[in-house]
Amino acid sequence: MNILVLNGPNLNLLGLREPELYGREDYAALERFIRAAAQEAGAAVTIRQSNFEGELVTWVQQAHGVFDGLVINAAAYTHTSVALLDALKAVRLPAAEVHLTDIDAREPFRRISYAGMACGAHFKGLGFEGYRRAIRWLCGL
Ligand code: DQA
Repeated sequence: MNILVLNGPNLNLLGLREPELYGREDYAALERFIRAAAQEAGAAVTIRQSNFEGELVTWVQQAHGVFDGLVINAAAYTHTSVALLDALKAVRLPAAEVHLTDIDAREPFRRISYAGMACGAHFKGLGFEGYRRAIRWLCGL
């Protein structure tokens, strides 16, 4: 299983941004966690982060024929980006949505997830553990 993990805007600021919500561990720690989870599941993983919607859309498009599945935390673009939803639908790869926080228990504007509409599994409010569950789900574990 060859998995692409995509992280959206401001996730590079983990540790600094609202630690009471997102925790004190930084983005490098998240990447280490994801690599360990992939290894444990016997999967290959590529991890990318961008603050640009178009770059995330391009990476989803380029995943076609290269990766077997996607894990996506589109961050704020989750709630706004029909472009990401369309890209995910276009490539038709199995995809799992992850959010560190429980987006259903926060502000009402976070309850809509466009990206999530193209995902077969959703892991919200589990912190880093959500990525491990998403990888395991893609691997059928
Ligand atoms: C987030 C939740 C989003 O609403 C927010 O904009 C983020 C992070 C999460 O992982 O909890 O940037 O995707």
